Amino acid sequence: MASSQIKALRGMKDVLPSESHRWHYLESKVRETLNAYSFDEIRTPIMESTHLFARSIGEVTDIVEKEMYTFSDRNDESITLRPEGTAGVVRAVEENGLTANGQQQKLWYTGPMFRYERPQKGRYRQFHQIGVEVFGVQTADADAELLIMLARLWSALGLQNAVTLQINSIGTLEARNAYKAALVTYLESHLESLDEDSQKRLQTNPLRILDSKSSETQAVLVDAPKMNDYLDQESKAHFETLKQYLDKAGVAYEVNPLLVRGLDYYSRTVFEWVTDQLGAQGTVCGGGRYDGLVEQMGGKPTPAVGFAMGNERLLLLLETLNLFPEEIDTTPDVFIALMGESAQAEGIQLAEEVRRGNADWRIHMHLGGGSFKSQMKKADKSGASLLLILGENELLEGKVVLKYLREDKPQLSLDRSELVQHLHSLIV
Ligand code: HAM
Repeated sequence: MASSQIKALRGMKDVLPSESHRWHYLESKVRETLNAYSFDEIRTPIMESTHLFARSIGEVTDIVEKEMYTFSDRNDESITLRPEGTAGVVRAVEENGLTANGQQQKLWYTGPMFRYERPQKGRYRQFHQIGVEVFGVQTADADAELLIMLARLWSALGLQNAVTLQINSIGTLEARNAYKAALVTYLESHLESLDEDSQKRLQTNPLRILDSKSSETQAVLVDAPKMNDYLDQESKAHFETLKQYLDKAGVAYEVNPLLVRGLDYYSRTVFEWVTDQLGAQGTVCGGGRYDGLVEQMGGKPTPAVGFAMGNERLLLLLETLNLFPEEIDTTPDVFIALMGESAQAEGIQLAEEVRRGNADWRIHMHLGGGSFKSQMKKADKSGASLLLILGENELLEGKVVLKYLREDKPQLSLDRSELVQHLHSLIV
């Protein structure tokens, strides 16, 4: 049957026990940071109606055109596995009236996202994001707080010198449309020098041409009109204020006038944190303001700003830079070996007694029977420092044998009633 063994889908990875502690480490640092800024967690479904993503992310984006996992359910409804988290959070906030009375909301979420992209290092078809969305704040202090929080998080992880912040403002929809028209007119006069993708995008999504990887296209862009010259006064002022806040907080940034991001819902501030340590997939976190989205999705006009970071990319970066703390010790504190049938039945009680003694102790009770010799071997291999042995004799006498596996000390025969107390003095 080996030849027909079923494998995981391409671009979808298992997180093995040997790796899951690293995920916990990253997640706990992020949780600590989010808590310090008083964010609350929201959990939304992994599947949503396909319309939700098409309408929010944009019909002519790569994600919606080429990357969504879309299928009909048994009722012939078009369903999509979420390619990102913002759309679902916006839906949930509206549906549950979380901003109905003008309240502000500071929300975060984490979970798997799905995009049918070509898998490579740092790019998967199922990947995980930790994201944040702030609703109901128009002013640049909200944008600044998110970036300051991220800078603090990178420091907590030791990544402060490994990532850089790029920011830009893409203005309001009107300003962007005026800019788009000017950009298209300019690029049309240089059509032959544009790469094929950019030629197509000229009709569908011209702003995306700005981050084309083609050097010929980039050469054409040098003299192209600049977004900054088309920004409305309010967006300009917003961007200036944001920069002042960042300067004051000591958060370094680069203004990248070509940064536009791949999702359509942004307005004003956009940003990315990038690293040069991961090859082509160097963006570890991206986000921005999306003041028009809530209204566009049928809600009351509600300004919003947020970001999402890619867990796999951050884990790769931490690994590349050797920044994980010492491996977390997962060896058991106590191994329990059981000799004979009645001891085996009683062993379950004994293990529970010990676990009640302290919920933090890691207790490994041997399962599955077997000879004394094989259980001793397993106890040794487990790395546990203490071994409890319950055999038929101990059972009759109400005793347990305690053996030191890593120290040269004589074994003890303890009364069951004094066992837990004794363990307290041994396990720190
Ligand atoms: P995004 O830039 O599409 O933004 O994704 C955010 C991050 O998710 C990326 O910077 C990257 O680290 C990670 N990521 C994206 N695709 C993949 C992939 N195929 N494999 C591994 N990691 C990936 C958003 O999703 C927006 N919803 C962010 C946002 C929230 N904007 C406002 N609020």
